[in-house]
Amino acid sequence: MTASESPSDGNGFGDSGTSRSLPFDTSVAHQARVYDYVLGGKDNYAADRAATEAWLKIDPGMAFSARANRAFLGRAVRYLAAEAGIRQFLDIGTGIPTAGNTHQVAQAIAPETRVVYVDYDPVVLAHARALLDSHEAGATEYIDADLRDTGTILDQAARLLDFSRPVAVTMLAILHAIPDSDDPHAIVAKLMAAVPAGSHLAVSHVGAELLDRDKQDGVRGVADRMVQQTPTYRSREQIARFFEGADLVEPGIVRVEEWRPAPGTDSTATSSMWCALGRKRTA
Ligand SMILES: C[S@@+](CC[C@H](N)C(=O)[O-])C[C@H]1O[C@@H](n2cnc3c(N)ncnc32)[C@H](O)[C@@H]1O
Repeated sequence: MTASESPSDGNGFGDSGTSRSLPFDTSVAHQARVYDYVLGGKDNYAADRAATEAWLKIDPGMAFSARANRAFLGRAVRYLAAEAGIRQFLDIGTGIPTAGNTHQVAQAIAPETRVVYVDYDPVVLAHARALLDSHEAGATEYIDADLRDTGTILDQAARLLDFSRPVAVTMLAILHAIPDSDDPHAIVAKLMAAVPAGSHLAVSHVGAELLDRDKQDGVRGVADRMVQQTPTYRSREQIARFFEGADLVEPGIVRVEEWRPAPGTDSTATSSMWCALGRKRTA
């Protein structure tokens, strides 16, 4: 499959009307490249590294949170493919490709799995080739779009995914980049309304109760220097509202490292990220 050549164009923008593709600008830090740097990647620039170092001075636990979040992605996708029988994924907020991308994890279990990736960062788009290296029994696609542009995402994803069959919508470490003014709960509701009962939602998100207020304020100060991506820390109750109409998969809403940890995992460190998986109920 080829990467989508058409950037977000406003067609079907969410009700917020504020979505846009990010400019390619190496002079300001981007969430995707900060995350890449923390995970030990090479696709980042001086501004990203400076923002990360400033962030780590305020919140040294951020490095553990990022690694624990990425490990959660692997366990969640494995659960969805192996235990929930999911064969279609819509992975929004993909990030710069690294080890254990969604299609690699899922296709190792079910090679016929289809995965549509969505991100709005030009650096992720530039690396999309790695995401399109699908097992020949399955397929992958990349859409260059803003999460708030739900109309474009659903229209383009329907080229590869069959929306009459269950889909796992994964939004890991992205929803906190959507401010309350853009109503992230309405965005998630629109996406989940497009998929049938038996579909799943996976979310990870920085937790309001998991990092003290002073550190949250300090992180926001650093992130204000990043492009349009100041994190909004949300409470457990606000995370639960993303799952309206779904039954939470055990163990419910927990820190990312607590979600079905692999046996023998060191559990002394704690992250500042909530996560959960839910299965859409029959109406
Ligand atoms: C921290 S990375 C997470 C990557 C991956 N989901 C994971 O959990 O390992 C967040 C990604 O979300 C993307 N992102 C943030 N806001 C977005 C938006 N409004 N629309 C599309 N992508 C967005 C960023 O560009 C970045 O690549």
